[in-house]
Amino acid sequence: MATERTFSILKPDATRRNLTGAVNAVIEEAGLRIVGQRRIRMSQTQAEKFYEVHKERPFFGELVSFMTSGPVVVQVLEGENAVAKYREVMGATNPAQAAEGTIRKKFAESVGENTVHGSDSADNAKIEIAQFFQDSDIVG
Ligand code: CMP
Repeated sequence: MATERTFSILKPDATRRNLTGAVNAVIEEAGLRIVGQRRIRMSQTQAEKFYEVHKERPFFGELVSFMTSGPVVVQVLEGENAVAKYREVMGATNPAQAAEGTIRKKFAESVGENTVHGSDSADNAKIEIAQFFQDSDIVG
């Protein structure tokens, strides 16, 4: 299995509760390496572009408004099978359905305020990483 990269966001509910270190500990304990990381305030334009695939969904406005409501931490994670591994580590989108030990089971408050985002495919990971990182800001 090849080393690959995935894109991660620690969402505003995580930064608001000072959980950056606690979430990063779960990521690192799972064997994923944080090779790029930046704390930013996502703009309305960035959030709308990032979540474009969801723009017809009823929760789109709420999602954009939440993601711009406070600082987020954008990350590039690297490891064996990183996309699938991180999805496993995050747990189900709805924390009520997330498995024991996952980030969302431990920390998430609701399906909207669910602490983390992770790419759903290697192709999307490349697109998402390119939206927030330059190659020189990723140090493997
Ligand atoms: P994420 O992986 O960032 O990608 C899309 C997001 O939409 C998802 O995480 C959820 O946080 C959010 N989402 C999904 N379903 C709902 C919902 N019913 N209400 C609000 N937000 C939602």
